[in-house]
Order: sequence, then C-alpha cells, then structure tokens
Amino acid sequence: MENPSETRTILVIHGPNLNMLGKREPEVYGKDTLEDIDAGLKEAGRHLGVVVETFQSNHEGVIVEKIQEIMTTHQGLIINPGAYTHTSVAIRDALLLLNFPIVEVHLSNIYKREPFRHHSMVAGVATGQISGLGMQGYFLALEYTSSCINLRFSNKLKF
Ligand code: DQA
Repeated sequence: MENPSETRTILVIHGPNLNMLGKREPEVYGKDTLEDIDAGLKEAGRHLGVVVETFQSNHEGVIVEKIQEIMTTHQGLIINPGAYTHTSVAIRDALLLLNFPIVEVHLSNIYKREPFRHHSMVAGVATGQISGLGMQGYFLALEYTSSCINLRFSNKLKF
C-alpha cells in the first residue's frame, strides 16, 4: 500500500445541485457540465504533480462523512458546498477535523446575489475563498492547494 505520508491527493467536493451544471441557470453558473470541470481538474492535477479526486453529493450527511474519511488520506480540499454553504454547521464542524489547506469555491459571486447567500458557514474555517470567477475558480484553488502540498514535500511549508 502506498505510504500515506507520500501521497499528494486533493479532493474536490461539489455540493447539492452542482450535478446539474450546464442545465442549471447557465446565465449564473455557466454552460460547462460538472463532468467537464472534473475532467479538467484531473488533467490539471497531472501537470501540477498531484492526484485530484472528485465527489458530488446532494446530501449533507454524505458530505460530512466524506470529509471525515479524508483526514489522513488526503492533503488538500477544494469544496463548493452549494446551498449548504449558507446553512450547514455540520459541514463547518467536519472541516475543523482537517489539518490541511481547504479552499471554498463558488462559481457565482455570492456577495452580489440575494442577501441570504452573503453569509458562508464555511468561510470562517476554510483557508480561503474564491467566489465569482466561474469554473476558473476551481483551477485557481487547485494551483494554490497543489503548491502548498509541493512546498510541504520540499520542507518549505509546514501544515
Ligand atoms: C454556489 C452558490 C450558492 O449560493 C448556491 O446555492 C449554489 C452554488 C456557487 O457555486 O456559486 O448551489 O455555491
């Protein structure tokens, strides 16, 4: 089995309704499908020297369990919690288990939208947030998390 201390694996979690990208309000979320985004992230990961895994669920508890599972197996998390961003104390609490970089991504700029979207339960426990840059936000988050991991492996960064 691969030594967990040598893996460089980043998980990307997409929350509820993000499986409908491409069909869902394309004027807000763009025309790319989730499959397009995930394939692009895996390919980009290969160039950046990391393994990218992707996961989508419409269920809060399933997302919580997935976060719990990666405590010792992964080294970075990119998460778009969808509507759970604004409501989920459970996802926020699960993220506190993780000891590595977490980037919260939103395709739309949540601060330009309805007031109920302006508050993120997750922002206070994430390393940082990217909001409003469309699918490019995921790629920028991947560049950041992979550079943290690669720096850590060259002993230039501790986390
Ligand atoms: C979203 C923004 C949320 O407010 C919304 O509920 C989503 C998608 C985004 O990516 O812009 O499902 O997280």
